[in-house]
Formats: sequence, C-alpha cells, structure tokens
Amino acid sequence: MTFENILITSENGIGQITINRPSKLNALNVATIKELHDGLESLNNNTEIRVIILTGEGEKAFVAGADISEFAHFSIEEGAKLAQQGQELLFDFVENLSTPVIAAVNGFALGGGLELAMACHFRVASDNAKMGLPEVSLGVIPGYGGTQRLPQLVGKGRAMEMIMTAGMITAEDAYKAGLVNHVVPQAELLDFTKTLAQRIMRNSPVAIGKAIKSVNDNFKDGVNGFETEIQNFGDCFGTDDFKEGTTAFLEKRKAAFKGN
Ligand code: COA
Repeated sequence: MTFENILITSENGIGQITINRPSKLNALNVATIKELHDGLESLNNNTEIRVIILTGEGEKAFVAGADISEFAHFSIEEGAKLAQQGQELLFDFVENLSTPVIAAVNGFALGGGLELAMACHFRVASDNAKMGLPEVSLGVIPGYGGTQRLPQLVGKGRAMEMIMTAGMITAEDAYKAGLVNHVVPQAELLDFTKTLAQRIMRNSPVAIGKAIKSVNDNFKDGVNGFETEIQNFGDCFGTDDFKEGTTAFLEKRKAAFKGN
C-alpha cells in the first residue's frame, strides 16, 4: 500500500499514522481521508498492532481542518455528500475500530482536525496545541461529527460556546474541559503517548475491543449500552484471553495475552 498524504510506521506493537501535508497544515482533503481509512484498516487488521497513535507532521498542526479549497464551490448536494462520506469512511470508522486509537494532538486541531481527534478513543495534547471548531466563521457548520462529539466530551454549554464563537482554546483549557486527557511539552508528546500505549498493551486486546464497543453503544440511538455490556461481558468468558488472564492471576505471573 502506498500513500501520498500519510506516513505509517510501526514498532513494538504500536502503529503510528502521521498526517503528512505540513505545507497545508495537514488539512484533510478527500484523498487524505481515504488514505487514513485504508491505513487505519490495515493497522487494525494486523494482529501484532495493539495500539494506534494518530498525529500530524511538523510542529505546527495536528490538522487545521477540512481542506477549504476543495469544498469552497460545492452545491448543497455535494456538501451533504462530503459530510456523509467523510463520517462513514473516517470519523465513525475510527471511533468503532477495535484497536485503541490515541490522538497525539501536536498543534492546531481545528474543524475536521478537532473532529478527527474527537473520533479517536482519547486524546493527548502538546502544550502549544490550539483547538476549535471555526466552521461558522466560514458560513458552514461542523460536518464530521463535531456537533455530536464535542457536547459528549465537554458538555452542551461549553460545546455551544465553542461552536458559536468559532474560537480556539488552549491545550490547558481543553484539559480542564475534559477534551484532552493530558497536556505535555511538545518534545515529549510522542514518547508520553507511547508510554500510555504500552500500558494499554499489557491488557487483553479482545477485552479492550469489547470495552470500546460497549462504551460507544452508550452514545448510539436506539441501542442499549447496558445490554451490549452484558452480552460482551459474557462473550469474554469464551475467550483464550480470559483463560490466560485469570490463570495468570491465580499463578501469580504476568498474563501473556494473544488477543483471541
Ligand atoms: N484548508 C486548506 N488549506 C489550509 C487550511 C485548511 N483548513 N488551513 C491552513 N491551510 C493552508 C493555508 O491556506 C496556507 O497555504 P498556502 O501557504 O498555500 O497559502 C498554509 O496552510 C499555511 O496556513 P497559514 O494560514 O498561512 O498559517 P497561519 O499560521 O497564518 O495560520 C491557521 C494558521 C490555522 C490559524 C490558519 O491556517 C487557519 O485559520 N486555517 C483554517 C482553519 C479552519 O477554518 N479550519 C476549518 C475548516 S472547515
């Protein structure tokens, strides 16, 4: 698989995808969205990869939004299609991956960039990061899930203010609002995120995948997350990881999970 807009590396069970259009502050054009889908899918299908880190190339931006030059002349139908296809191909896709995806937000995360970070399972930010949903300043609204995921993360009032003012908040304010889990100096961002990934990797990949699904179902219309939890809790008892985890505990040794 060859990519023009993203870089993929992997080491010791951690896959890293770096959005690589620094001259455009890593803005998401349609080609990049497709490549991100394909890259994430290939890492998710690779059983050796236990955690995926998503970040942006350079020191300035994670992603400065959807590529404005691509949609500036779109019609109503084209606009709706852009949002629908993007949500399906990337934003819903990443949220529902069974492999944990951590956004390492290394600078501006604006519009589609913040929406992408919010679709990841959680976020770590560098201290220079700035986040916002500036879409209404362009006469449009967030279209990649921002009106839904921002209130889930920071509450309705804060989300309304951020969306209506189109303003940016600092990494520290994002931390206080619960939008990012940690803020670290930029030079330490990837190492810190990898340390978190290593802690996740000690645990059962099967159980983690089922936990992601159960948490996500809390936010799905017409789906009872408690029922999903019961079902997935039960399913864990039929896995090798469960046998290994409980046996290792009783034998007072570290579990060696195989992910099945
Ligand atoms: N879409 C397309 N191109 C973008 C972009 C976007 N969302 N964000 C930045 N770029 C491009 C700029 O057009 C510029 O390209 P050029 O050198 O060919 O002119 C390049 O990236 C660098 O950006 P620039 O604006 O010169 O950097 P800056 O440091 O002065 O400002 C920002 C940084 C993030 C404040 C500014 O780029 C910005 O406001 N970007 C748009 C943010 C936005 O509204 N996103 C939501 C889109 S729905």
